[in-house]
Amino acid sequence: MSRSAHPAGPRHADVLPEGHYTAPAEDLNALDPKVWAHTVGRDADGVVTVGGLPVTQLAEEYGTPAYILDEADFRDRARAWRTAFGADADVFYAGKAFLSRAVVRWLHEEGLNLDVCSGGELATALAAGMPAERIAFHGNNKSPEEIERAVRAGVGRIVLDSFQEIVRVAHIAQSLGKRQRVQIRITVGVEAHTHEFIATAHEDQKFGIPLAGGQAAEAVRRALTLDGLEVIGIHSHIGSQIFDMSGFEVAAHRVVGLLKDIRDEHGVELPEIDLGGGLGIAYTSDDDPREPHEIAKALTEIVTRECESARLATPRISVEPGRAIVGPTAFTLYEVGTVKPLDGLRTYVSVDGGMSDNIRTALYDAEYSVALVSRTSDAEPMLVRVVGKHCESGDIVVKDAFLPGDLAPGDLVAVPATGAYCRSMASNYNHALRPPVVSVRDGAARVIVRRETEEDLLRLDVG
Ligand code: LLP
Repeated sequence: MSRSAHPAGPRHADVLPEGHYTAPAEDLNALDPKVWAHTVGRDADGVVTVGGLPVTQLAEEYGTPAYILDEADFRDRARAWRTAFGADADVFYAGKAFLSRAVVRWLHEEGLNLDVCSGGELATALAAGMPAERIAFHGNNKSPEEIERAVRAGVGRIVLDSFQEIVRVAHIAQSLGKRQRVQIRITVGVEAHTHEFIATAHEDQKFGIPLAGGQAAEAVRRALTLDGLEVIGIHSHIGSQIFDMSGFEVAAHRVVGLLKDIRDEHGVELPEIDLGGGLGIAYTSDDDPREPHEIAKALTEIVTRECESARLATPRISVEPGRAIVGPTAFTLYEVGTVKPLDGLRTYVSVDGGMSDNIRTALYDAEYSVALVSRTSDAEPMLVRVVGKHCESGDIVVKDAFLPGDLAPGDLVAVPATGAYCRSMASNYNHALRPPVVSVRDGAARVIVRRETEEDLLRLDVG
């Protein structure tokens, strides 16, 4: 189970009297390094700093809510993945987690490749100078225009997701006089232990071609006959926010089994396999993710072992972590607007953002933690629910947490581990203006995605 991020159902009843919770033993002023970006700490006045800058100054300059991203931490994590997998493997950062031109440049500099899944992500990658051959193009329903753009640009691989797409990509590539490198995405029948909406390798869902019933083998058979395609490998992505490596073990076993069948039938050893992304991060102190070097070692060993027993040369492995790189590197900074104690229940703390900047709590029942960051406090802990300012009672940012009992309007609070799938899934619900992403490094801050303005909203509304 993905533990804190995606419980199978609500972990607590919707309303539990305060007495049912025990106040945390730990100091509420402490910042657990597991969930906070690497350079986060508190200064002598108790104000939280990141990249050498106090959050009070960041709030003053850039306003709230804002996503604050620790660039050094992002680069460290990207490099750790790159180093862990070494020169014989490829790491594709999954752009869907969070993508901007600055991020693409950092990835390029750190030697990572990029997985994109839409024309918009492809455009961002190319605009920032990511070499096309280091881009993988994903998606279960790429439009002919998107495919053509990707083929023309010369992307390193297109990951084929259906029988129709095999023909579509082959046709487009051929008409452009090209031979497109492709992988075929299969579903291996693994139920990753995660929330239903983000588990992708069981068969009853929209992604990939099932291994079951020989469909994946048939897809390879057809793709190998088409001149417009160069089949370079098999792709499998089993889900997200996964801590347990056993799902990858089964997936690798089945993917290698297919490679063996392909060799036996066609006399071809496909040179690559991609095991997707999905590695979990700590959203709360209860989560214990593995380090990239442990993951790399485990995955490489699994694939090598499986290939040895199938008497296949070990293919080049690639992985596609998104959340595990960017997730922990950012937090969302909010200002408290109201503090509303409900007798015998809990205290509702309203912040100046909400489900428009973090839909994950409402959508997946994801758990987050929260801290008072503009000062320290020795007040007694109070049980809170951090909610947004949207017209919806499900507009919850942090469902259950403790904050100091003297919390007041004007205080700044921050929710850590919001780097992945928060800005990228942000919406304009209630005509909210999507917050900026401010990157910090060595005492300097820089807006990498600016705050939306009412003008931006009105520009789309053509009257
Ligand atoms: N590769 C493929 C083919 C994917 O579909 C995904 C995620 C990834 C890599 C990256 O997965 P990651 O390492 O970031 O877990 N919105 C959801 C997550 C959806 C993930 C979709 N695919 C969430 O907020 O948890």
